[in-house]
Amino acid sequence: MINYGVVGVGYFGAELARIMKKENDAKIVSVFDPENGEKIAQELGCDAEQSLDSLVSREDIDCVIVATPNYLHKEPVIKAAEHGKNVFCEKPIALSYKDCDEMVRACEENNVIFMAGHIMNFFHGVHYAKELINKGKIGKVLYCHSARNGWEDVQPSISWKKIREKSGGHLYHHIHELDCVQFIMGGMPEEVTMEAGNVAHQGEAFGDEDDMLFITARFSNGRYAVMEWGSAFHWPEHYLLIQGTKGAIKLDMFDAGGTLKVDGKEEHFLLHESKEEDENRTSIYHGTEMDGAIQYGKPGKTPPLWLQGVMNKEMKYLNDIMHGMEPDDEFRPLLTGEAARAAIATADACTKSRVENRKVKLSEIVGE
Ligand SMILES: NC(=O)c1ccc[n+]([C@@H]2O[C@H](COP(=O)([O-])OP(=O)(O)OC[C@H]3O[C@@H](n4cnc5c(N)ncnc54)[C@H](O)[C@@H]3O)[C@@H](O)[C@H]2O)c1
Repeated sequence: MINYGVVGVGYFGAELARIMKKENDAKIVSVFDPENGEKIAQELGCDAEQSLDSLVSREDIDCVIVATPNYLHKEPVIKAAEHGKNVFCEKPIALSYKDCDEMVRACEENNVIFMAGHIMNFFHGVHYAKELINKGKIGKVLYCHSARNGWEDVQPSISWKKIREKSGGHLYHHIHELDCVQFIMGGMPEEVTMEAGNVAHQGEAFGDEDDMLFITARFSNGRYAVMEWGSAFHWPEHYLLIQGTKGAIKLDMFDAGGTLKVDGKEEHFLLHESKEEDENRTSIYHGTEMDGAIQYGKPGKTPPLWLQGVMNKEMKYLNDIMHGMEPDDEFRPLLTGEAARAAIATADACTKSRVENRKVKLSEIVGE
């Protein structure tokens, strides 16, 4: 039996706990969340701690799941590691390379797992695309283009997810696509530029994040990426396009599905586990709520079917690792915080580029 403790049981943490509770030989023994802890503990039939310290110092906890707001990940991760607990931390693991580095080192020094909640790694379509690339189906990858754009109307209240200091804004909060591009490209770019601004969401009714962000990235050996995010686009888009020397792959999160295009022929594959999950995502993105790409949850809301499907796979993977499963080499950086730290390094380089209005080398962030 592996015992888990969960820090932060709002929209996502509560659902991760519900899902993990159903896994084989997994038990949620306690949660800590000053606002929602008691309620979720009652639902899960576990303890509710009154402090972070009391949770991380419990002898019966093997792994701590951290799902607090983005700017509050560092303390629980480091404290859990110092108490010898393995850690799963939601994305983005932190909002600066320096903080990520301290967290990765704390986990390294205490010899514990530090898995990042980079959920795109568990999309069927991402796995399949990686398999196609590894088999040489599209030749050498030359270029990736990601877009995650929608339109945000005034909301009943301003979420922490819209405040740059707390969420990091779209680039950090939606780090998924950048992490996925780095997964495909095999690491960080050498140099980046970013232009960004808050063009249509200024004033008291909104947070202060940029609502349009455009990045160009140059990778080694003549490879490039263009990535864009934002909530100021009335024509919504959400996709990752991978262009190679022999063919191309598109992972479409909007009209959910994947396409391999080689020699003018198209082969279609699922983005998620089933046709039902893909259709669920498509119908949400075409629905009347806020555009799917930029939608966000809050405590008490339940994630949609397609997202629950990915969360199931992610929690199963964590639990299998905790039970001693050996990871594939490609997945090792996901389990040490290294891939997550590398994504934030690039995000920091982009932020520096926007602030200083120039191209920024990754070596300026991570050293030579
Ligand atoms: N992988 C994904 O697709 C995905 C989706 C949604 C959220 N997330 C991530 O999950 C994390 C949580 O997001 P959410 O949507 O659940 O937000 P949320 O606002 O719904 O929940 C956050 C919870 O943390 C609690 N909290 C605040 N400060 C705390 C503290 N110091 N200690 C313990 N608990 C504290 C709050 O009371 C709240 O219940 C974020 O890092 C977010 O980026 C990931």
